[in-house]
Amino acid sequence: MSGRNSLQLSLRQATPEDALRIGVLGMQVFLDTYATEGIRDSLARQALRSFSTETILDLMARADTSFIVAQTQGHLLGFAQLAAQTDHPMIRSPQAAELQRLYVQERFTGYGLGWRLLAFAERQACLKKASMLWATVWVGNPRALAFYPRQGYAHIGSPVYTLQNETHENALFRKML
Ligand SMILES: CC(C)(COP(=O)(O)OP(=O)(O)OC[C@H]1O[C@@H](n2cnc3c(N)ncnc32)[C@H](O)[C@@H]1OP(=O)(O)O)[C@@H](O)C(=O)NCCC(=O)NCCS
Repeated sequence: MSGRNSLQLSLRQATPEDALRIGVLGMQVFLDTYATEGIRDSLARQALRSFSTETILDLMARADTSFIVAQTQGHLLGFAQLAAQTDHPMIRSPQAAELQRLYVQERFTGYGLGWRLLAFAERQACLKKASMLWATVWVGNPRALAFYPRQGYAHIGSPVYTLQNETHENALFRKML
C-alpha cells in the first residue's frame, strides 16, 4: 500500500461486498472514539451488535440508508452512513437527512478524507431532495466538535442520548444544503 501522501483515493457508493470491511473499520473507529476509559459491557455489546456484517447488510438493504466508502487499492480507509428523511425533535423537517456515521481510520485522519466523505454525503443528500444535513456528536469528542463548524455546520442544540441506561450529552450540528 502506498504512503499517505500519495494515496490514490476513490470514493463511491458502497455495495454489499463492502459490508465486512465497513463493519470491522466501524468497530475499530467506534472503540477508538468512544471507549475512552476502556471497554465496559454496554460498549462491548453495542460494538458487536452494531458492526456485525449482518447489521451492516441490513442497513444497506434499507431504502433510506446508504453508505459511501473511501478506499485505496482495496483497503477501506473511511466511510459515511447517510439516512434520508430522518427526523429529530430539534429539527422537524421532512426534508432533513442525517449523517449517521462519518468514520475515518485513525492513522488516516487529518488528510482530508473526512471532508471529502462529508462533501460526497452532502451531494448524495441533495440528490435525495434533502434541504438539510444534520449530525450529532458526543461532547467527549473534541475533534469532531471542531470538524463540523469548519465544514459550515451550525451547532443548534445539545440533545441527550440514552443507551442501555447510560445518558450521553451530544451536540447537534446542521447545515442547509
Ligand atoms: C472527525 C473525522 C471524521 C474528521 O475526519 P478527518 O479525515 O480527520 O478530517 P479532515 O482531514 O477531512 O479535515 C481536517 C483537514 O482536512 C483539510 N480540509 C478540511 N476541509 C477542507 C475543505 N473543505 N477543503 C480542503 N481541505 C479541507 C484541512 O487540511 C483540514 O485541516 P484543519 O482540520 O486544520 O482545518 C475523523 O477524525 C474521524 O473519523 N474521527 C473518529 C470518528 C468520529 O469522531 N466521527 C465523527 C462523529 S460520527
